[in-house]
Amino acid sequence: MIVSRGLVFGLLMLAGAQAFGAGAAPNERAMALWARSCALCHIDGNAGAPRVGQAEEWGPRLAQGRETLLKHTVEGLNSMPPLGYCMACERDDFLAMIDFMTANLAAAPAGDQP
Ligand code: HEC
Repeated sequence: MIVSRGLVFGLLMLAGAQAFGAGAAPNERAMALWARSCALCHIDGNAGAPRVGQAEEWGPRLAQGRETLLKHTVEGLNSMPPLGYCMACERDDFLAMIDFMTANLAAAPAGDQP
């Protein structure tokens, strides 16, 4: 069977593009852990948890500094459980999660609260 050189070249390009694309998503591990451990409370604001990306809820907390947020995540704070129930999480995972939840706060439209 004769396969056209153009087709072979096209398939190689496709395979190459996929290999290049794989692993491009940043913090995949932290996001998977976040979805398992933190989303439970930090999407709906259960027990008064600051909701992901909500500027009004995160603003005053961010002002404490990233290290304090990390400390409260590890040690717990009122209804916030120590480690956020994530025994597998490492320091870098927590920092990535905190960055994720407090990212793009300036872009959140004012008065978007229910
Ligand atoms: C059982 C619900 C619950 C889970 C699960 C949870 N949180 Fe929280 N979290 C809270 C609540 C409630 C607060 C607000 C505590 C307060 O200020 O009294 C909070 C506050 C925080 C804060 C702000 C702390 C501060 O100093 O203001 C951070 C950061 C945080 N959580 C990170 C996480 C991370 C990361 C995870 C997952 C590993 C997680 N939380 C899982 C309920 C939860």
